[in-house]
This record gives sequence, structure tokens and C-alpha cells, in this order.
Amino acid sequence: DIPKLQEAFKQHFRIGAAVNPITLNTQSELLKHHFNSVTAENEMKFERLQPVEGTYTFTAADRLVDFAAANGMGVRGHTLVWHNQTPQWMFENREGSAVDRETLLARMQAHIETVVSRYKGMIYAWDVVNEAISDNSGELLRPSKWLDIVGEDFIAKAFEFAHAADPKALLFYNDYNESVPEKREKIYELVRSLKEKGVPIHGVGLQAHWNLEHPSVDDIREAIERYASLGMKLHITELDVSVFQFEDRRTDLTEPTDEMLARQAERYRQFFQLFKEYSEHIDSVTFWGAADDYTWLDHFPVRGRKNWPFLFDGNHRPKQSLWDVIDLA
Ligand code: XIL
Repeated sequence: DIPKLQEAFKQHFRIGAAVNPITLNTQSELLKHHFNSVTAENEMKFERLQPVEGTYTFTAADRLVDFAAANGMGVRGHTLVWHNQTPQWMFENREGSAVDRETLLARMQAHIETVVSRYKGMIYAWDVVNEAISDNSGELLRPSKWLDIVGEDFIAKAFEFAHAADPKALLFYNDYNESVPEKREKIYELVRSLKEKGVPIHGVGLQAHWNLEHPSVDDIREAIERYASLGMKLHITELDVSVFQFEDRRTDLTEPTDEMLARQAERYRQFFQLFKEYSEHIDSVTFWGAADDYTWLDHFPVRGRKNWPFLFDGNHRPKQSLWDVIDLA
């Protein structure tokens, strides 16, 4: 009998997985055994929930929420405001030209109010704004239609609308490259200024799309300390450990090497050691998937290249990483 990952870390944080309509079927036994939180990989994104103005499509998202409720799991909501996977109609009027600030804010409010109220009390945390910070030096916010049309307070507005719709949900700012020192400082500055203005923000989501070398454990620790110093809760929201570095475009591997698997186990052990150490601040650790039979990394950044980023292999059997992580719980 394989010990349950969620049981092992019960005293520390929830263990979550991103799911989609297919993995909800193919991985359901694994999910029920090891995980006590789920996130919709795509099904709660803007374009999925409101593809046409005023026409909401909740079927797939509802199914996920029902699955979670039936199995005593929590749900993390992902995501309300993002530059990707948001339909074109949102930013245009009937003639196809850009809408004004008031119109876009009214549409944002309508969407957030509808979605957040529907799942009120069922979603313990929302990624309210996703990836708004720029990766380029000398630029705080990423160029986007939100920023263009509304101005930089689109972020504060999103949090206010979400809070009004479900005052008990924890509201998060979520981003990647969250442990890279330069971007870390920008995220810190954004969150600090939101907090100073009294915006209802409760946490920082560290996406944690990591690999065998990057980021360093020291940089991750530094990021955790920095965000926690703002009094924010921390959620690890999209954890995966790619066996390839980002710049590595090789396509020849059909299975991971023993060396990769050993290194991956070492990395996972270090990460969970760190999460445990900071479990006063970290109360949710979500993987961006569950087992190696399916990961978004199978087509990103190299199309059609297999990756093996999780604790469970393609047949849902524990990898060395799983045993090492359970060991230190
Ligand atoms: C990804 C999904 O996994 C893919 O299926 C989709 O095609 C693109 O989005 N950061 C995020 C997630 O916040 O929403 C992204 O999910 C991965 C990167």
C-alpha cells in the first residue's frame, strides 16, 4: 500500500493538482489517493467561462467543483484576470475598435462577480491576477490590453471585485520566474503597494515551473522570505520539475535517464524540505498536473517533446521523488 501524499503533509499544507476533463477521468484514482486540492488547468479561464459576451459556459468547471466536493477536496480558482486566454471581444466594441476604461472595467466586474459568486464558499483561494509583471528590466508591468485600456489600477480593481463577490475567499497574485531576484523585487513592490493602498490581497502564488538546475534553492528561499515579510500567505501554485533546462531544445529522449530521475528526486526533496520549513506561511502546494502521462510541458516550450516532471510515472506508479518526499514529511 502506497502512503498518501496528502496525509503525509496534512499538518503542513494541502497537496493539489491541476486537472482537465481528460485527466479527471484517466487519473481519478491517483487524484483521490494523494491529493486534497484541485485546480482547473484551463476550465476556469476567461475564454472558457465567457467565450461570448454574456454567455457563460460553466459545465466543465462545475464538473471539477463537483468532483472535488464529492471527494472532500478543496478547489483553487485559476484565474480571473490574465493577458492570455482572454477573448478578443472583451477589449473591443461592436465596430472592432478599443473599448474605453469604463466599459472594460464594467465587463471585468461582471465577469468576476458572476464567476466568483457562483463558486462562493467552494473555492478557498483565487488567482485573481495572473502574470501581470514584466520579465524585462526597467519595466514593472507587462504590456497588455488591460494595462493599455484601464491603466495600472486594473490590478487593484480585480481584487476589489473578487473580494466583494466572496469576502471569505483568499485572493492571490500569481506569477512565474517568481524566484528570479529581479522579478522577485518587482512582485514584492507590486504586492507591497497594493497592501499599502488597502487592496484586499491575501497571498502570493509562486507558480514554481522549475527544472533540474534552476532556480537555486537559495533563490527560492529568498523569494519565500521576501513575500512572507509582507504578511502574505504563500501558495505554490503550478509546481513541476522539468528534466530539461529552458534553453535545452533536445528532442531525442524517449524516456528520462536514471541521472535525470536521481537529480529530480534530489530537487523535490530539497523543495519539500523548504516548504515544510516555511509551512507557517505556505498552506497549499499544487502541482501543474499529477503524473507523467500528461503534462503541459509535453508541448511547451518544445512542441511534441515528452517531459517527466512529476512524482508519479506515466503508469501512476511512484517515482524515487515520491518516496524521498514522503520520507521527510
Ligand atoms: C497552461 C495550460 O497548462 C495549457 O494547457 C494551456 O494551453 C496554456 O496554459 N502559467 C499559468 C497557467 O498560469 O495557466 C498555464 O497553463 C501555464 C503557465
